[in-house]
Amino acid sequence: MKSKGYFAVILCCMFFLLFCGCGRKQPEVPEKIQVGVACYNQSDIFLGELVSCLKQQFEQLENSGIEITVLVRDAAGSQRTQDDQVRELIDMNCNVLCVNLVDRADPSEIIDLARENDVPIIFFNREPVAEDMMQWEKLYYVGAKAQQSGEMQGELAADAIAENAQADRNRDGKIQYVVLEGEPGHQDAIIRTESAADTLKSKGISLDKLGSGIANWDRAQAQNRMQQLLSQYPNQIELVLANNDAMVLGAIDAYEKLNYSEAALPVFFGIDGTEAGLEAVIDGKVEATIYNDKEGQARAIGNLAVAAVTGTGMDQLAFENEKYIYLPYQKVTEENVREFLY
Ligand code: BGC
Ligand code: CA
Repeated sequence: MKSKGYFAVILCCMFFLLFCGCGRKQPEVPEKIQVGVACYNQSDIFLGELVSCLKQQFEQLENSGIEITVLVRDAAGSQRTQDDQVRELIDMNCNVLCVNLVDRADPSEIIDLARENDVPIIFFNREPVAEDMMQWEKLYYVGAKAQQSGEMQGELAADAIAENAQADRNRDGKIQYVVLEGEPGHQDAIIRTESAADTLKSKGISLDKLGSGIANWDRAQAQNRMQQLLSQYPNQIELVLANNDAMVLGAIDAYEKLNYSEAALPVFFGIDGTEAGLEAVIDGKVEATIYNDKEGQARAIGNLAVAAVTGTGMDQLAFENEKYIYLPYQKVTEENVREFLY
């Protein structure tokens, strides 16, 4: 009798444990990763190259045995369109989003949608402000530090000026320069401009800023702005600092269109190391550029996407402040440019 009683108690305990176990729902790990990629504008040269690296990265992860599908949407410069595209990507069952915001100051709608559906977001290339990044714990950012690219551009420009007495063409002891700037409000525009100039000054170069033009990262707009600057300051510009390669190439287009002789050209500096930018360094048209590590960024986004969905591998990622992954920039000159050609 006694042993029967014990048996009944043990059975009850087992049932209890079993029910408790079922009640405490284990988080489900989806077998399949469905990635939604939302881009601000794929006609942007650097962004287009970054997105193709990202696609390659997801293909590689798929080859390593993870089942992944990728859906890419292009907002063509409209935040409204991007909000709708994100809604659509969530409706199509994406379980992680990679978002390249159109307006980096306006991510709230996208964050709300993602949080309601418990879909983590990896923002990339266009960094939301810190307060927005704090809105939810499943928000991440992958990119690079604008200040570092500006400093490197300033250092390379200072080296080139120090090495070449001809750079100060009117021999007034100062470098007359212009800046071609990216989109206002983009973290990479103002900071690159300021840190490049500050670095040049800290290296003892006297600067004389003739003017600047906003060309929104775009080659054709930069050509236009440069033509305007050249009509204001014909033959006076000794240095052109551009916030990216597309714009430095636009500036060179302007000089070519106006048939400037080689001897009358300023020294040109870009940032990104796009395919065309690297070619221009090889051809000697651009003095130097700064490599914006799109392969490294794509790798970080890919690994983070897998970790965010499966819940494993987060501890392998090099986070700063738990949410941010920044890839370093690298200087590119004619000496090392070939290392960057893939
Ligand atoms: C790149 C630019 C690009 C922009 C787009 C920047 O980091 O340097 O070339 O147009 O990102 O957001
Ligand atoms: Ca001068």
